Amino acid sequence: MTTHKVGHYSFKWTSQHMSKEEAEPLKHTYDELGSYVVTKLQEIAQRNKNSEGGPVPPPCQMDLYGLLRDHRHEDERLAQFWDETHTVPEWVDWEQIERGQKFLYRYAPGNLMGFALQGFMGENTAAPGISEVLIRTGGFSTRTLLRRLLETFQFLLQVTESLDAVKPGGTGHITTIRVRLLHSMVRERIMRIEKTRGNYFDMEELGAPVNTIGSIHSITTFSCNHSWLQLPFMGVYPTEQETTDYIALFRYIAHVIGTPTQYFETTARAKATMESMLVHQFRLNETSDVVAHNFVQTLTDLPPMNVSAQFIEAGSRVFNGDDLCDKIGLGRPSWYSYACFRGFCWLVSALAFLQHASPMFDEYITGFLKRTLHDVVIHSKNGLAGGSKLEFKHVPQYGKTVGKEGHERSPPSSASWITRRPVETFLFACFVLGCLLFVTVMLLMSQAVGLLYMNLAQDQMLVIHESHSFV
Ligand code: HEM
Repeated sequence: MTTHKVGHYSFKWTSQHMSKEEAEPLKHTYDELGSYVVTKLQEIAQRNKNSEGGPVPPPCQMDLYGLLRDHRHEDERLAQFWDETHTVPEWVDWEQIERGQKFLYRYAPGNLMGFALQGFMGENTAAPGISEVLIRTGGFSTRTLLRRLLETFQFLLQVTESLDAVKPGGTGHITTIRVRLLHSMVRERIMRIEKTRGNYFDMEELGAPVNTIGSIHSITTFSCNHSWLQLPFMGVYPTEQETTDYIALFRYIAHVIGTPTQYFETTARAKATMESMLVHQFRLNETSDVVAHNFVQTLTDLPPMNVSAQFIEAGSRVFNGDDLCDKIGLGRPSWYSYACFRGFCWLVSALAFLQHASPMFDEYITGFLKRTLHDVVIHSKNGLAGGSKLEFKHVPQYGKTVGKEGHERSPPSSASWITRRPVETFLFACFVLGCLLFVTVMLLMSQAVGLLYMNLAQDQMLVIHESHSFV
């Protein structure tokens, strides 16, 4: 059995893993029904406008989901798409899905940090089939990336909000269909440019835009990576049941979004699929640098957290290893940034320990994090101010790709290092506290061992003394 090592993660190759021969053709297949549906819906939008007069709305103003809902009876394949996405497979167990939804909130700080620094930074940058699409949509420009991240979190929050939200017709279910249509729009647009102008997207090398293997990879990033590639590196160990339940939720999402579901049938198969992606999808190129660079720039000095680029780089190195991070051009931060990140890890692992110890505390924390995330990401003015309909804003255009960009925010101006980056100062304090606790426990333990040893020695002396006086 061959052992593979990717970053800090190693695993053994088994018969459940996906062979290269199985993976390669999946680069060239994609959600054809989704592609048909967006083409048809655009025709319908054109027809409607022709009969009403006036120009056809640009793609970013088209409500494809609304068009689908209203016109699905006019075309057999539109109806098929609607029926398939609204049919619940017989393997769906709603009680399990409901348990799975809690996983996101239960370990929210670790999950979000892991998703950003390992999922986005480690995996999206390293998979050319994904990163080459991302830089062509413009959504990876530092001016737009933050909104894209918020929209991705909106999707995550909506599919985990409640059972009704993820059941057919619920907000999370509708958002998932919108994402599927958005993907198909991106694909259609890129394929059309490649067909008419050429030299735009190397389909031979990269496969089709938003193809089957990329989609399977993305589902593993959303569902499996937390349990094996992210939380354990922060000292958080979800139970097997929690992992299985969360994967079950995303197996259902895969069904709605048009991704093959058999790879997520069991937890063992899903884990093997995740590991197969680490082997088949990892190939760094120049685009990886751009995606990583813009990602760091977007998050650096973002109020109110104001975290530094060094903190982000330290976290990325903990998850993804130095080899990958050097190759994508990340800086080498000082020990202070690592200490702050370690403080974060100790904080989330202490929280998880207390949650495992007390179900009441767990319920409180899970509920609190859920309310806070929904407020901050979806409802607040600095977030999505009520939510996004995931319009097709960043339309790929010939000759337009995103390069490395800076950000326009100035670093915090406070003179004192304590108040300049309060979050990092707090995390550093957690690190110091953790070290003090460790040293205190070690001292107490060595004292206890010393006392035990002295007692044993005294007992032995007593025995020797008694046996001598007996003689
Ligand atoms: C099947 C699993 C996937 C899920 C659950 C998913 C999720 C999402 C979500 C929530 C959005 C909307 C928010 C945003 O704009 O970021 C989105 C948009 C997008 N996704 Fe995916 N995605 C998946 C697969 C993929 C794959 C394989 C690619 C290939 C490159 C891809 C490329 C994109 C692009 C280009 C956008 C539009 C960005 C824009 O508007 O500029 N996605 N995806």
